[in-house]
Amino acid sequence: MSEHFRVEGGARLAGEVEVAGAKNSVLKLMAAALLAEGTTTLTNCPEILDVPLMAEVLRSLGCQAHVDGTTVVITTPAELSHEAVSPAVGKLRASVCVLGPLVGRCKRAVVALPGGDAIGSRPLDMHQSGLRQLGATSSIEHGCVVAEAEDLHGAQIWLDFPSMGATENILMAAVLANGTTVIDNAAREPEIVDLCRMLAQMGAKIEGAGTSTLTVHGVPSLQPTEHRVIGDRIVGATWGFAAAVTGGDITVRGVDPHHLDLVLEKLRMAGAEVTVLEDGFRVAMAGRPGAVDFVTLPYPGFATDLQPFAIAMATVAEGTSMITENLFESRFRFVEEMVRLGADARTDGHHAVIRGVAKLSSAPVWASDIRAGVGLVLAGLCAEGVTEVWDVFHIDRGYPQFVENMQRLGANVQRVAAPPER
Ligand code: EPU
Repeated sequence: MSEHFRVEGGARLAGEVEVAGAKNSVLKLMAAALLAEGTTTLTNCPEILDVPLMAEVLRSLGCQAHVDGTTVVITTPAELSHEAVSPAVGKLRASVCVLGPLVGRCKRAVVALPGGDAIGSRPLDMHQSGLRQLGATSSIEHGCVVAEAEDLHGAQIWLDFPSMGATENILMAAVLANGTTVIDNAAREPEIVDLCRMLAQMGAKIEGAGTSTLTVHGVPSLQPTEHRVIGDRIVGATWGFAAAVTGGDITVRGVDPHHLDLVLEKLRMAGAEVTVLEDGFRVAMAGRPGAVDFVTLPYPGFATDLQPFAIAMATVAEGTSMITENLFESRFRFVEEMVRLGADARTDGHHAVIRGVAKLSSAPVWASDIRAGVGLVLAGLCAEGVTEVWDVFHIDRGYPQFVENMQRLGANVQRVAAPPER
């Protein structure tokens, strides 16, 4: 039986919270360290479960990897193993990001596919097609993605969809390819820009970071570097929604507020007073939020990772909200759990219609992924009574000090340890 969070409803969250480095950046930057022989140091890393897991993946490839608080030090040998098949690989979706660097460095890679995901299918066809266009072969064999290239060469690659993972893998293979690669319809997320910045510090020649056309001039080798991970915009936005749903007042630091321009605008539309600060923002809400519609899209659209928080807000908003999910087919699965809490919510394909109610009521609920789990905690804060949120290991994968931060802001949230196994 896993641990659970005991969430007492009714608190108004107020105070200041500091956001650590971004999960969806650090894991890719750790993979990028494979591209250069020597010691790479990453600072401002979040203290979350996925970071030591990724360190384990790198160790299985022959690196030394030390996680010391918010610093991760990776020493990459001249000769790497090209087989990422250890148990840690399967536990971590982001482990697939070692594929591009391994193809770049070793000219071949075998990477175990992670298991199914509660947010829907996550194919790798664009990763594979991109590598093929760079001159590699790629197939799925015995539960692994296998890629091999005699020689990697630059190519013009059009992505069907601006996938973060595909952009990252193709980019990390292309930096060491012969000639120039152009990735069109590339992902524009701030985490991609962070990766491009680190690769540039390592000696890569990349133009267009943050736009949908990335041009990569291949170089023969890269050097290790020291890099500070960008602040986690998804965690930052979480606290903005926490203020909005509890009628609270939260100042968030450690994140670039411009990574959240659209999110902050949506919170304003819901009635919050939003102040943009140099290193963060403040969200203050008096009373119930108003209903707002949300449509998830790749950056700079509204992030799919924030959709559960938008739903949590909609459940207690005045009026009816329509939320459209365009990225992951099963990302509404947790809405059933919201209904347990008294939400008036229904989903139909890509859409969820939520009629706001004045109060939710507590119930035991189950987290199916990181963001769904946090969305349920936010809803629990608006529920009468004590809500138990189960399977919180999901939340620990992405949120450092989650319970401590909640408590600091005045929420009565406790971690309840699992009973010892008999
Ligand atoms: N897709 C394909 N084929 C591919 C690759 C992607 O069809 O080859 C589709 C996916 O099925 C999905 C869409 O493209 O419908 C976008 O997927 P993307 O590749 O952008 O997602 P990802 O790289 O697998 C990252 C984050 C997710 C976040 C998405 C979207 C990491 C480790 N994960 O996943 O974060 O939701 O981008 O922004 O960076 C989370 O942090 O909770 C999380 C799930």
